[in-house]
Amino acid sequence: MSTAVCPGSFDPITLGHVDVVRRAATMFDVVVVAVAQNSTKAPLLAAGVRVELAREALAGIPGVRVELVVGLLAGLVREVGAVAIVKGLRSGADFDSELPMGLMNRHLTGVETIFVVGDQSLAHVASSLVKDVARHGGDIEDLVPSSVGRAVREALGVSPAGGGNTV
Ligand code: PNS
Repeated sequence: MSTAVCPGSFDPITLGHVDVVRRAATMFDVVVVAVAQNSTKAPLLAAGVRVELAREALAGIPGVRVELVVGLLAGLVREVGAVAIVKGLRSGADFDSELPMGLMNRHLTGVETIFVVGDQSLAHVASSLVKDVARHGGDIEDLVPSSVGRAVREALGVSPAGGGNTV
């Protein structure tokens, strides 16, 4: 039984994340989606909310479960006996930030990070941009799983999109 860990901040989970997890689930028997804290980012959503939204969004994918990481990702990787860490790549910029994390996690655990190329149609979908669009009144419904939009708007204190998009 092969297990992979798919980590991220998931602040919030987007359709890009769902695409990557779906692809990981075709390669491993079990995929543990690890909701973690990125110390370079201040999250909008509380950890428990990020976990719940991810659970809801990924519920239909066999072999996938969602866990909250407390402390180092390496601890969870060891605990679940993962044979790989899976992350999605949208661009060279993603690779630049992922490379040191992959090296550090291999240093800590001996486990390799493998990169999955996500769907090209979702290459512009980043949690940070999704939050920015919502913050300015834009429509994010086709960028995130259902129920995420409401949670993000609530956290931002903005009302539902009313024509913020121009296309
Ligand atoms: O979605 P992100 O922000 O790119 O994910 C980064 C994340 C949260 C996976 C990373 O910051 C992380 O693993 N945080 C947990 C603490 C940890 O293990 N830090 C060392 C990373 S090498």
